[in-house]
Amino acid sequence: MNQDELKALVGRAALQYVTPGALVGVGTGSTVNHFIDALATMKDRIRGAVSSSVKSTERLLAHGIPVLEAEAVTSLPVYVDGADEIDHRGHMLKGGGAALTREKIVADLAERFVCIADESKLVQTLGAFPLPVEVIAMAAPQVARRFAALGGTATLRAGVVTDNGHPILDVRGLAIADPLALETEVNQWPGVVTVGIFARHRAGICLLGTAQGVKTLTF
Ligand code: 5RP
Repeated sequence: MNQDELKALVGRAALQYVTPGALVGVGTGSTVNHFIDALATMKDRIRGAVSSSVKSTERLLAHGIPVLEAEAVTSLPVYVDGADEIDHRGHMLKGGGAALTREKIVADLAERFVCIADESKLVQTLGAFPLPVEVIAMAAPQVARRFAALGGTATLRAGVVTDNGHPILDVRGLAIADPLALETEVNQWPGVVTVGIFARHRAGICLLGTAQGVKTLTF
């Protein structure tokens, strides 16, 4: 199976975690697109979705799946999303699709985070994939200097503005030994909107697409 087929496999497998009659939190990305397409097959058995991006909202609506605003929701049984990297404790690096802030907001509403990913995303240590950080534009140079002091090289993602109207810094050269500590530290820096480390909102379950089929990791 190629990578896209593995993504489709876990997208379909995630349906087992969707609670009938309830809302489901929906992430963003090519893996989640497969989940949304699979979700359409049970759209009459769910109340609707809370979406983490304009792109996912458009896809959900195109399938006729009702989308509720996050502001109108107090809790979700489950949030399903992909990752750029996931480690063996469920910590993730996310934001390759620039949706990290809304992803963290919707994940925060959910009781359970189900990560769907092909096996290339499983890593020992987060950080080989450039760490995305959404920032207020005027803070970008100072945030970049702070990362340089930690050994990272931050560059603005060219031509990208998030759904919230902000730029993204991608930080290379970090080996993130303690994801929770780094997330907590970067969250304190003025002008940081969201850092793409999901340690506080780590996955409870990962459905990993492998050549042997779907492997379920629980954390
Ligand atoms: C978007 C994300 C995605 O979950 C992440 O980039 C994985 O994407 P894909 O499923 O396309 O590999 O964090 O902001």
